[in-house]
Amino acid sequence: MTKKRVAILISGRGSNMAALIKAAKAKNFPAEILLVLSNRPEAQGLAIAQAEGIPTAIVDHKTFADREEFDGALHRALMDANIEIICLAGFMRVLTDDFVERWRGRMLNIHPSLLPAFKGTNTHHQALLAGVASHGATVHFVVPELDSGPIVMQAEVPVLPGDTEEKLAARVLKEEHKIYPAALKLLASGKIRIEGDRVVAV
Ligand code: GRF
Repeated sequence: MTKKRVAILISGRGSNMAALIKAAKAKNFPAEILLVLSNRPEAQGLAIAQAEGIPTAIVDHKTFADREEFDGALHRALMDANIEIICLAGFMRVLTDDFVERWRGRMLNIHPSLLPAFKGTNTHHQALLAGVASHGATVHFVVPELDSGPIVMQAEVPVLPGDTEEKLAARVLKEEHKIYPAALKLLASGKIRIEGDRVVAV
C-alpha cells in the first residue's frame, strides 16, 4: 500500500493534529503525516509534532505583504514535501480562492459544529444561545466559501442542562479526535468521492 502524503496546517493547540498523528502510526493507515505547518511561530502544536519526529515548518503570515504571497509560500512548502492531502486543524487563516482551487478535493477541515449550523467562530457559544438539543463537529472538504463544502463525516453530541461553553467544547472535541482520523482514512484510501455538493462512497 502506498500511503498518501499528508500535511497538517495548524495555528495553535494542535489536539486534532495529535489525533491524526496517532492514528497515522497504525501500520495499515492509508496516509502518513510528513509535515506540520503553522502560520504562528508560537503554536503549541509545533512542539508536539517535533516530539513525534515529524518535520515542522513555520510560514508566518505576518511576514508577507498579502494573502496571495502567504498562500504562495504555503503552496511551495507543500510542493517541496510532495504533499498530496492537506488537513486543516485549527488553522486560523482564510485561504485565497486560488489556493483552495488548487487543492480542491484534496483538502479537509474540521469545524466544531454540525454544519451548516453555526459557521464562523464561537460555535459552542452560538449553539448554547440557540438552545439546540444537539451539537457536534464536521469534517468537510474545503471550498472557497468559508465553513462550507462537501461533508465527509459528522459527530453529534447532546447539549446537556447546565452546559457551559467549556463543557460543551470538551464533549465536542472528544468526538473531533475520532472523526478526523476516520475521515482522512476514507479520503486517503479512495473510498469517497465528491459528487456535486455531496460526498458519496465509491
Ligand atoms: C477545534 O475545535 C477545531 O474544530 C477548530 O479549531 C479547534 C482546534 O483545536 N477548527 P486543536 O488545535 O485541534 O486542539
